[in-house]
Amino acid sequence: MFYQPEKNDHGLPYNPFKAIVSPRPIGWISTVDNHGIANLAPYSFFNALCDTPPMVMFASSGSKPDQASGKDSLANIRATGEFAVNIVSYELREPMNKSAASLPADTDEFEASGLTKSEGITIGAPHVAESPAVLECKLYKIIDLPGASNTMVIGEVVGVQIKDDLIVNGKLDVTRYQPLARLGYMDYAVVNEVFSLVKPA
Ligand SMILES: Cc1cc2nc3c(=O)[nH]c(=O)nc-3n(C[C@H](O)[C@H](O)[C@H](O)COP(=O)(O)O)c2cc1C
Repeated sequence: MFYQPEKNDHGLPYNPFKAIVSPRPIGWISTVDNHGIANLAPYSFFNALCDTPPMVMFASSGSKPDQASGKDSLANIRATGEFAVNIVSYELREPMNKSAASLPADTDEFEASGLTKSEGITIGAPHVAESPAVLECKLYKIIDLPGASNTMVIGEVVGVQIKDDLIVNGKLDVTRYQPLARLGYMDYAVVNEVFSLVKPA
């Protein structure tokens, strides 16, 4: 089959785009607003961009009635220039999903999702204490994308926290926490098996 997104002529009951670009890692973004209220939400339009220095991005689509534009995460990052990316393990799938509820800007999703806050070391935004790894980020750039309220946030990773027991023989063993990934529709995948390939010279 072939379709053109502009014409929306795929003829399927659901748009397959997100199922095609899968699995996507989930950036569970924690921020704080200017009044000290913490915010937490998952974003699967998320990825790493480069590693020296380490940079990450996520994209926010759509808006909320209680924000001038975009979602709470975006508004907080515009205000403070900081955010943390909390990595989502399989065990954290339910609180992660819960934190995606569209709550008023002055509601703390850590509390609403039953999660524990831990303090950032290089940034003011709190972390999810239960998260296996956290990337503390300073805002690099916000880029408006075509479409209604599509915005890309790029951050530089300035601090990295990893739970010590996940390091095995000097390497991060992802099978110890099983990262959750987003597919299309309502579907998710979990990484519980890995294999290696040696890159050709
Ligand atoms: C697994 C998952 C991935 C999501 N990815 C995105 C995304 O990439 N961009 C987006 O705008 N919303 C995404 N959402 C929806 C947001 O999490 C949701 O709109 C949330 O309420 C935004 O919270 P905030 O206003 O506190 O930032 C996702 C939801 C889930 C459950």
